[in-house]
Amino acid sequence: MNIIHISAECYPIAKVGGLADVVGALPKYQNNAETSSQVIMPFYDVKFTKENTFTPIFESELTLGEQTHKFNILKLEKDILDFDVFFVDVPDLVFKDYVYSFDDTDRFLAFQIAALDWMLTWEKYPDIIHCHDHHTGLVPFMLQESFKYEPFRKIPNILTIHNAQYQGWFSHDNVNLIPAFNFDNVGLLDWGGQINPLAAAIKCAWRVTTVSPSYMEELKTNANGLESLLSGESTKCIGILNGIDWKVWDPETDNYIVKNFNQKTIVSGKKANKKALCDAFNLDISKPLFAFIGRLVGEKGSDLFPEAFRIALQNPNISILLLGSGHTETEEQLEPLTEDFKGQYNAFIGYDEKLSHNIYAGADFLLMPSRVEPCGLNQMYALRYGTIPIVRSIGGLKDTVRDISEDDGFGICHEHANVNDITNAIARGAELYENQTKFKAIRKQIMKIDNSWGASAKQYINLYKSIN
Ligand code: ADP
Ligand code: GLC
Repeated sequence: MNIIHISAECYPIAKVGGLADVVGALPKYQNNAETSSQVIMPFYDVKFTKENTFTPIFESELTLGEQTHKFNILKLEKDILDFDVFFVDVPDLVFKDYVYSFDDTDRFLAFQIAALDWMLTWEKYPDIIHCHDHHTGLVPFMLQESFKYEPFRKIPNILTIHNAQYQGWFSHDNVNLIPAFNFDNVGLLDWGGQINPLAAAIKCAWRVTTVSPSYMEELKTNANGLESLLSGESTKCIGILNGIDWKVWDPETDNYIVKNFNQKTIVSGKKANKKALCDAFNLDISKPLFAFIGRLVGEKGSDLFPEAFRIALQNPNISILLLGSGHTETEEQLEPLTEDFKGQYNAFIGYDEKLSHNIYAGADFLLMPSRVEPCGLNQMYALRYGTIPIVRSIGGLKDTVRDISEDDGFGICHEHANVNDITNAIARGAELYENQTKFKAIRKQIMKIDNSWGASAKQYINLYKSIN
């Protein structure tokens, strides 16, 4: 069975968040005797594309409304990934030094049209077309409705919703950008008076998955306006928990971290990584280190940090380290904390893949007080690196972390995304740290939890088979 993933992100090529990690890992686990998986993604002007060479394998022009744009399909010359990735290069639209910005409608439509135009020329079509998020949400609609894609009508296609907060809305004034279709069916594109690519994909895809069972349930009552649509389509929807790439996220072989370790060497390994981190950020290694890694946006609950951290840091025996960027207001409110709590709080405002690995390896606790968390990968990386997750019980966090008060519990869970719950959870963490025997036993226990893709990749294959 041949599967083609169409996605805006893929690690290590272009990454903004967890979507890249999933699309960079799942295909590896789908490449075996039975199935073969490939990725099509946009060709951006980013570090990876600058540092590698690519061969053009197809050249054509696409039509976007009244305009035509030249495009190439490129293939990576060296076989450095574990699966094939094809790049859609639309030089005047897609090749930018960012993944997402104000011009996403034109860019991602051009990407989707070019990908499908090229696939029309294939001798053998794929058995499954797997789309990810709203950036590829018009694919299921075009496969079903656009005249020129008639040959694809019988190919089963799947949409995975990684995050329903973002839907790719644009005005009906731009409907002519979409390749011609029977206008009687224009309603399939619409949700609430706008063209809504995510809604269109939910309506047209053969199956809709999301990245954890709990998030699937939550979407029926909290989906940024799509609740009734998702409830109505629930028979074709399923939640499949993400896994993590066991090879990339392995403290025993991770090249980014200061000292490699495994379950046996966890004590010395964590200590060496924590020391390096504390030295770099002027923190005290003897205090429990609470960390946050992520986008500073409302969904992650990060606007609560300035107040929550000020309260939590009144306890002189804890340290906090933050890595992330996002809302300017949150960044500005966090800034004075570095001065006010010198030696106890520090932050790196920005994106740094290497530092993220060092934090998973060196921190004692990882904070995730998300308001919305479809799956969340950070908590699973933390577990693998012996860092205890402190999470709000929602979405994928609820499905992957069990509170220490329960049998075999290994994390700290709280109910609400508010300042009080965050500070209480940090206090519980500090208390656990005091009990070094229990703390160390839990660290060892969590490193053993298997959150690799194995089981979930099988669930996807079963889903593909059920519609093939
Ligand atoms: P989301 O996709 O909603 O941002 P996930 O938990 O699924 O959340 O995945 C986030 C991914 O992005 C993880 O791999 C995490 O380590 C990484 N990440 C987030 N922010 C940063 C940052 N500032 N620097 C480095 N890595 C980051
Ligand atoms: C989204 C979600 C995150 C999830 C990731 C990968 O970015 O916000 O929770 O882990 O996609 O599926």
